[in-house]
Amino acid sequence: MKRILVVGAGGQIGTELVPHLQKHYGEDNVIGADLKDDAVAKIASYARAIKLDALDFNAFGQAVKDHNIDAIFNLVALLSATGEKNPELAWKINMGALVNSLTLAKEFKTAVFTPSSIGAFGVSTPHDKTPQDTVMRPDTIYGVCKVTGELLSDYYFHRFGVDARSVRFPGIISNGCLPGGGTTDYAVEVFYEILKTGHYTCPIPEDSYMDMLYMPDALNAVTQLMEADPSKLKHRNSFNITCMSFCPKELFAKIKERIPSATFDYNVDPVKAAIADSWPNMMDDSCAREEWGWNPQWHLDAMVDDMLKAIAAKLGK
Ligand code: SER
Repeated sequence: MKRILVVGAGGQIGTELVPHLQKHYGEDNVIGADLKDDAVAKIASYARAIKLDALDFNAFGQAVKDHNIDAIFNLVALLSATGEKNPELAWKINMGALVNSLTLAKEFKTAVFTPSSIGAFGVSTPHDKTPQDTVMRPDTIYGVCKVTGELLSDYYFHRFGVDARSVRFPGIISNGCLPGGGTTDYAVEVFYEILKTGHYTCPIPEDSYMDMLYMPDALNAVTQLMEADPSKLKHRNSFNITCMSFCPKELFAKIKERIPSATFDYNVDPVKAAIADSWPNMMDDSCAREEWGWNPQWHLDAMVDDMLKAIAAKLGK
């Protein structure tokens, strides 16, 4: 990879992936694209930035051509909870950006990375040590898009030789840009609320386990997988990866150990609760470990320490 285009670059992952890719491949070789003016302005403060609607095939293609792109990172998505509010829009956006990315990858011979998710699994999936290859019948439109995306990406690889690779991200915890509209967002929001007000009301049931990953590990997963020797990859779209599995009660206990005055209560959102319940408790990520050396570093205690420090500094506390 020499010239990278990141679409949907203004979101939670893109905000940190663009600088990570700049470090790996050089500042001039990474372009961050977003639909919204404020996101483009933000990206422009640290990287090359363009305004682009990834659903506009011609404009997307022109950008790939003009900038001589050889890898597309497609981060465009409506997340799980937002998706349930408008399933047709979620399908249009999530699939539109993916189909355009794959079609352009075929035409311009670029690689493609599109994240999949724990959302690709559903109620009928085994919830503990969820295997790499297992039942995938998701219960959300977000998950339906992710499974479709995985199948389509593998199809483009087998049929047209498009170098498409992907990971199934768990909830990603980070302190750069807030996630928006996901079921795992609580694990980020809690840090801001506790540091701002000392109290957090959680929309997820206290004992609902989900896989989680701290952003530095998520970023390494992306570059490690995209750099992996293709002859070693038995899978492509998409790899289970995880590092932590916890429920709200466990995360809040860790925060309370560090901030004894912190208080928590619950106002469960039934839509989010049902989604959380349908997702794995803990995935088995052994294929990622074997095929490309996945080896995450950030476990619960270290993550909580780092989040509190970073967000306190951000809030000037
Ligand atoms: N973080 C995402 C969500 O909660 C899962 O991939 O929707």
